[in-house]
Amino acid sequence: MLATRTLFSFLAVFAPLSAAGAEIVPLASLDLAHMRQGWGRPQVNRAIRETPLSIGGRRFDFGVGTHAASVLWIELDGKTERFLASVGLDDAAGSPAGSITFTIFGDGRKLWQSGVMRQGDAAKEVDVDLRGVRTLLLLVGDAGDGIDYDHADWCAARFIVAGAKPAALPAPREEAVILTPPPPRTPRINGAKVFGVRPGSPLLFTIPATGDRPMTFAADNLPEGLALDPATGFLTGSLARKGAYSITCRARNALGAAERTLTIVCGDTLALTPHMGWNSWYVWENHVTDKIMREAADAMVANGMINHGYMYINIDDCWMVKPGAPDGPFAGEPRDARGMINSNTRFPDMKALTDYIHSKGLKAGIYTSPGPLTCQGLTGAYRHEELDVRRFVEWGFDFLKYDWCSYGGVAKDRGRAELQKPYRLLSSILARQPRDIVLNLCQYGMGEVWEWGKEVGGQSWRTAGDLGGSFEGIGAALFRDGFDVYARNELHKFGGPGGWNDPDYILIGHLSNWRGQTVPTPLTPNEQYTQMTLWSIIAAPLIFSGDIARADAFTLNVLCNDEVIAVNQDPLGKPGRRVAKHEDAEVWVRELEDGARAVGLFNRGEFETVVEAAWSDVGVAGPQAARDLWRQRDVGRFMGRFSAPVPRHGVVLVKLTPAE
Ligand code: GLA
Repeated sequence: MLATRTLFSFLAVFAPLSAAGAEIVPLASLDLAHMRQGWGRPQVNRAIRETPLSIGGRRFDFGVGTHAASVLWIELDGKTERFLASVGLDDAAGSPAGSITFTIFGDGRKLWQSGVMRQGDAAKEVDVDLRGVRTLLLLVGDAGDGIDYDHADWCAARFIVAGAKPAALPAPREEAVILTPPPPRTPRINGAKVFGVRPGSPLLFTIPATGDRPMTFAADNLPEGLALDPATGFLTGSLARKGAYSITCRARNALGAAERTLTIVCGDTLALTPHMGWNSWYVWENHVTDKIMREAADAMVANGMINHGYMYINIDDCWMVKPGAPDGPFAGEPRDARGMINSNTRFPDMKALTDYIHSKGLKAGIYTSPGPLTCQGLTGAYRHEELDVRRFVEWGFDFLKYDWCSYGGVAKDRGRAELQKPYRLLSSILARQPRDIVLNLCQYGMGEVWEWGKEVGGQSWRTAGDLGGSFEGIGAALFRDGFDVYARNELHKFGGPGGWNDPDYILIGHLSNWRGQTVPTPLTPNEQYTQMTLWSIIAAPLIFSGDIARADAFTLNVLCNDEVIAVNQDPLGKPGRRVAKHEDAEVWVRELEDGARAVGLFNRGEFETVVEAAWSDVGVAGPQAARDLWRQRDVGRFMGRFSAPVPRHGVVLVKLTPAE
């Protein structure tokens, strides 16, 4: 019986339904890695939990099982004739709470919609005419009540194709438009306006300045103990006494001069503004070497990132030895006779490496785990914490990422005390060192780390898992870990000078795809603007983790807009938050030191839409002057609200200043 039914449905589907020469292409034969969905992975010929496709008691042999919210973009050549499917909520969802909607768009026009569907509803039949259509969008929404139990089936889904086979795309094609004007040729001082250092610690701060070279630097009111190199703008030395020292920094070139106040706060607090720098992980993963790190430092100077305030060059995992490795780059003795940790063969001389990075006016970062092994299985700090910190100090590092990894096997439970223990231990050791080392807690947000990250001595703490853990999933993770984790947990309440929420690195430019290749980021140009804008509004560290030596003009434009960076580095240090959400439109606001507000108008939807920021949401009254920060252009005076069209997954960032 079953065999007969299967054969019948197969024939019904694969028998020609259209003009001679047309071919049937099942939806499931497309590259479903491009399908974004709220839970799990797309399934071929079965439902999301790997059970047979079944809607309203009716079984289907082929189709795609997905989960709301699900998005699939498909490129057609205009010769695809029809799309047919039977859609509905899968019978295995297991709860009447699930509710979904199916919607199909062709070239931005709605072609079909299902209305709300629940478990047990009979499948709805889709048959849409696609002649002339070039971009198709298959959407499953959550019907407005969240995605729980939203198991969605595109059953018997197939195209009738006369021309080229439909191709799934990660996103509709988008032009990479450079919005940021080049900095003026005259000097301009950028980046942080406040910088923290502890008494007696060696200080290195490079005055970040754009403009033609050669440029000379000078400073008024330099406190005793500090010196400025006029040729490089490197401020070095150390301060003996606590206090806030305001220095007037000056930069001059053949075309003009600039000045700005920098306040060096000598006290117990580091990281008065979010860290800015580069990290090796997402491009070099376990291939990182001394040479790569030196080239990264060279690149940060050559491509000008240093002139916008970027300062850390951070090695991630894989500089140490792998216990038991018989040969290869990680083989060797994990520690020397005194128990001091060794670097592996790819890092012959760590002190020489940090000297090199420092000679460029930059700072150096290192990585380890509180567990016996790092996440890649190399030597961690467990039971050697004091020695390892001493070694990092000897080597001359300025930043430490402390990654939970195998400490899961050491901790007795996941209670707060156990989650905090390794970080408390490490920060107490760091506090005794004659060198400032900024501590980044990496434990993926466990135990609401934002509530206690600062208390246990962290200068920043990762708020979620790896943003780029799945290369194809970076876009989805950006919206989930950036927007949703942040807004749901009201993380703005916990960040501030000395301790910042860290939603992970800026994943643009060229990245590893974890399959042995370095490829362009899967983020669309608008998504890249969105990441940089959101990170600036929420006061997240700006750590670029793409290939810095190959950063192209578009990537540098996203990373190096000084007015956007000024929002990130605002000295008030008050992280912004979401103040309004209407479906896919969100408004995020950050209060700035000068009384103005940075307002991000975000569009999380699949099509351009107008996003509006009402003064009541922004928290302002009266006329406001608006400046578009990406374009660095004044856009006028506004009353009551500011609104703008915002592209798919894009943003408009304005600064509103009272105009009275
Ligand atoms: C974890 C961290 C990543 C990276 C890797 C290295 O996954 O969250 O940021 O450091 O380990 O192994």
